[in-house]
Amino acid sequence: MDIIIRDSYEEMSKYAAGKIAEFIRKKPDCVLGLATGSTPLGTYRELVRMHKEEGLDFSEVRTFNLDEYFGIGIDLEIPYNQDQSYARFMYEELLKHINIKEENVHVPDGRTKDPEKYCAWYEDEIKRVGGIDLQLLGIGRDGHWAFNEPGSSLASRTRIQALAKETLDDNYESFYKNAGIARDQMPHFAITMGVGTILEARNIMMIASGKKKADVIAKAIEGPVTSQITASAIQLHPGGVMVVLDREAAACLANRDYYIYAEKIKKQYSL
Ligand code: GLP
Repeated sequence: MDIIIRDSYEEMSKYAAGKIAEFIRKKPDCVLGLATGSTPLGTYRELVRMHKEEGLDFSEVRTFNLDEYFGIGIDLEIPYNQDQSYARFMYEELLKHINIKEENVHVPDGRTKDPEKYCAWYEDEIKRVGGIDLQLLGIGRDGHWAFNEPGSSLASRTRIQALAKETLDDNYESFYKNAGIARDQMPHFAITMGVGTILEARNIMMIASGKKKADVIAKAIEGPVTSQITASAIQLHPGGVMVVLDREAAACLANRDYYIYAEKIKKQYSL
């Protein structure tokens, strides 16, 4: 695991976006797994900047989003809608600003009437394109990856998940409240890639920022692997794993000094 610590949210976001851009430049038709939440906003802003100012080309890139609220979701052909779907979030914050092809974008469809069949199809689609090259992830305050709430099997696949109270509270504050939507109107379920699905991505990048994530980041990276903190499954990933944090999110890491040293010395030896 490469644990990268940067002073601020902006620097963390620039680092994360820089790594994603490296992937795209090396493999222009790479498959990216994308995440929502407030944490990736800076990363997406920086990717948009690189597209506009440096010509970062998304024309062959394929994307799969981690999750979507169940019961809502928009057709990407209808670009703007008042709902708080993750599809709309992705469109507003990233997709409409870059030259990605609509047919290469996948966000789980929260309106599906047959979730079981749909979730199996989503898994098949990921396989059909050869799997995810790089999966971007945040972390919920209860340690969840995507919407894999505590107790999700570490081998779980794409499915419907009931949302935990803490998750509903956080996501209500960040997104629904501002839109003037009542708390009980917020969806209480989501379609989410499973932990097992996520672990199949060839590379994983988890990002976190701010004091309120410090405790759960330490548990996920340095604590026991447990289904109670599904992001702790990061410790099981066999391939390229990067955790990119700002100083506040790294505050509770017992081995923080080692991680900082390891990054420096690897750079020194060009490793
Ligand atoms: C939601 C998303 C997660 C995300 C989490 C954290 O629950 N499903 O993928 O990691 O929010 O969000 P934030 O970055 O706003 O703290």
